[in-house]
Amino acid sequence: MFSLQSKVDLSHSNTLSLPCVAAKFIELEGESELLSVFKKYPLTSSNTLFIGGGSNVILPPSLQHYVLTFRDKFPEDAVVIKEESSTEVLIEVEAGVEWDALVEYCVLSGYYGLENLSLIPGTMGAAPIQNIGAYGVEIADCLEELKVFCIDEQRLVVFRSEQCEFAYRDSIFKRNPGKYIIVSVSLRLRKEPVFTLEYGELKSLNTEANLSGSLVRNTVIATRQAKLPDPKKLPNAGSFFKNPVVSAEQEKGLKDAYPALVSYPLPTGQFKLAAAWLIDQAGWKGYRNDYVGVHDKQALVIVNHNGGQQCDILALAEKIKASIFQKFHVVLEIEPVFISA
Ligand code: EPU
Repeated sequence: MFSLQSKVDLSHSNTLSLPCVAAKFIELEGESELLSVFKKYPLTSSNTLFIGGGSNVILPPSLQHYVLTFRDKFPEDAVVIKEESSTEVLIEVEAGVEWDALVEYCVLSGYYGLENLSLIPGTMGAAPIQNIGAYGVEIADCLEELKVFCIDEQRLVVFRSEQCEFAYRDSIFKRNPGKYIIVSVSLRLRKEPVFTLEYGELKSLNTEANLSGSLVRNTVIATRQAKLPDPKKLPNAGSFFKNPVVSAEQEKGLKDAYPALVSYPLPTGQFKLAAAWLIDQAGWKGYRNDYVGVHDKQALVIVNHNGGQQCDILALAEKIKASIFQKFHVVLEIEPVFISA
C-alpha cells in the first residue's frame, strides 16, 4: 500500500542530479494504486507531477506538488503477451519498467525492433512522451497503443498510436504536460530478425554473417558509451537540445558559408541540422564553469559537474542558444522538460 512521504530528496531521482526536495511524494505499485491515490487525495493536473526515471526533466530546488512515481518493476513481472503469431508479438508493458531492462528482455526473448534503442535511460512510461529515438528508430515505429490516466477526467483512456501525434522528440503528452499519466504501453515487435542499420556506426553490421539482436544491442551500447556520459558518473539528461529544422533556403545559405555543416533532408523539403555540430563549431564543446558544462565528447549534452542547480543549467543553455543564434541565425529548442517550482 502506498504512503504519503514528506520532504523527499529527489536529487538521486533525476539524472542531472539537480537538488530538489518534494514536499509530498508517493510511490505507487501500478495502475490500481494510481486509481486509489486519486480517490484518496485531492489531486489535479495543476498540483500533481508524475516522474519516471527522471532522465528528461530539469527540476527546481523544491516542489510543492504531489509528486507521484511508479515503483521499479522487472520486465518478467510486468510484461504480458496480448497477441502472438509465428512472425509477430504484441506485448503490454507496465509503465514502471526500466526502459533498457525491457530492451534486454526483448532481445533475449527473440523479439526484434527495440535493439537500436538500447541504453536510453528512463522508464517505459516516459519513453513515448518524448518519442525516444536513436540510430534511425523511434518508439513510435512499434507502439500500437497505450493506456493513460487522464487527470482532468479522472479515468483511464486508451490512445491508439495515431492519436499520440508522434513527431521527432514530441507527442501529445509532451505538448500537454501534467494532463496524462502513462500506465502501460503496447508494442508490436517482430519475431524475425529485421534490423535498421543505416546509421553511422551500425552500417558495418550489414556485412556481418552472424548478425543477432544481441550483436546490434551491444554495438549500440558501445557507440553510446563512447560518446554519451553515464549519468551515474557524470550527471546529464542526454541530448539537451533538439536538432533544429530549417528551410531549404536557410540550409543552403548555411552550407555555402560552412561547407562542413551536418544536415539531413526531410520528406517535407526542409532540413534537420545537427545541433551538436553547431554547438561544437561555436566553441562550446568541453566548456565548463564552476558548476555545469558541455560534455567534451558530445556537444549536445549538458553535464552537471559540481552541484549545479536548475538555474545554472538554464543559464548555460540560454548562453548556448544565444551564441548559436548569433553565429548561425538558428533557434535551438531545449529537449528535456523544464519543471517550474
Ligand atoms: N557532432 C559534432 N560535434 C559533437 C558531436 C557530434 O560535430 O560534439 C556531429 C557528428 O559528427 C555528427 C552529427 O553532429 O555528424 C550528429 O551527431 P550524433 O550522430 O552524435 O547524433 P545527434 O544528432 O547529436 C541524435 C539524438 C541522440 C541519439 C543520436 C543517435 C537528438 C536530439 N539526439 O544525436 O539522442 O542517440 O542521434 O541516433 O535527436 C537523446 O535524445 O538524449 C539522445 C542522446
